[in-house]
Amino acid sequence: MRVYNFSPGPSALPLPVLERAAAEMTDANGTGQSVMEMSHRSGDFKPIIEKTEALLRELMGIPANYKVLFLQGGASLQFSMIPLNLAAGDAAGTGAAAGTAGSGTAAAFAKKAVYVETGVWAKKAADEAVKYAAVQTLASSADKAYTYIPKIPAVPEDAAYCHITLNNTIVGTKWTELPHTGAVPLVADISSCILSEPLDVSRFGLLYAGAQKNLGPAGCTVVILREDLIGSAPARTPALLRYDIHVQEGSMYNTPPCYGIYIIGLVLEWLKGLGGTGAVAKLNREKAELIYSYLEKSALFYSPVEKPFRSLMNIPFVPRAEDPEKRKALESRFVKEAAAAGLVNLAGHRLVGGMRASVYNAMPLEGVQALVGFMEKFEKERAR
Ligand SMILES: Cc1ncc(COP(=O)(O)O)c(C=O)c1O
Repeated sequence: MRVYNFSPGPSALPLPVLERAAAEMTDANGTGQSVMEMSHRSGDFKPIIEKTEALLRELMGIPANYKVLFLQGGASLQFSMIPLNLAAGDAAGTGAAAGTAGSGTAAAFAKKAVYVETGVWAKKAADEAVKYAAVQTLASSADKAYTYIPKIPAVPEDAAYCHITLNNTIVGTKWTELPHTGAVPLVADISSCILSEPLDVSRFGLLYAGAQKNLGPAGCTVVILREDLIGSAPARTPALLRYDIHVQEGSMYNTPPCYGIYIIGLVLEWLKGLGGTGAVAKLNREKAELIYSYLEKSALFYSPVEKPFRSLMNIPFVPRAEDPEKRKALESRFVKEAAAAGLVNLAGHRLVGGMRASVYNAMPLEGVQALVGFMEKFEKERAR
């Protein structure tokens, strides 16, 4: 029996995608092979990666002057690749002169990178960037446990880029309005919201997402970058971490995550069949609204996130109980009983506790209805 899986990632995939992958497991596209067995440079695999990229371009409306890469290393590797490629080069931007041994002190950094700290992942991204660039944290919502998106001051014109985390998976916030960064390229981690709503790609210099939430299995990271940002990595940069090399080689400098790319292609076909990002956004809003409106009237649980910044994808909720011991006991009872009812992976992130329902594109409306029904029943039983 399939359960409703509210995991933050890796997460549920659409059932038709899994069924098709199963049907094609031993013979994909009449090749007599599994995609897992294909050479990445073969004529059998080429149409798979090309189709995946074409669908992503179509569904996201990616302009022609942007490149699409399918890489490994998760979103976390992008925390390093972005500053390395966009901000670690010399002032002239060629990067050749900056590749000297020993350049690793703040004074040696030619470029500034600005970050907005809206959560654990945003902070990790900034913490990694300090190794390669003069990092400035423009604003932070750490003062209120990241439960809102802070207003940002003007972005310094000399910054190489401004980094935001568009959807904060752990605490469940999202940017509802994109910041204006002038000529400074806006860079965004869209790991937990890619393709959940329409997004104007042309507002960004670079977008990246680990696949394991809204796109496919873990092991593949999608990077979408504007052409003028390519080619500034210092000479010391490892080949595998250079965007220009991955672009030149069409994501095949080394063996790409072939099977993940294939599954992403199937997920994108499924999404296109649903009607694309506009249609899925409507469904996502409906799903989120069901949970938030229950939380608004619940006497037992509440959403810790400030209203204007509530995520459509990750919805944390916590018991109102004051006593920490009672709260903990209630949380573990809820998670256990929900799992027994076929609603799994509802525990909050280990750093923040509470509960969290991750309701990515693949979560059907029926799953959310079942969750809300369970929450109401759980609350009623406690009130007796
Ligand atoms: C917003 C965000 N960024 C980055 C990461 C880290 O991703 P990865 O495990 O692919 O490195 C996560 C993981 O959950 C995330 O939610």
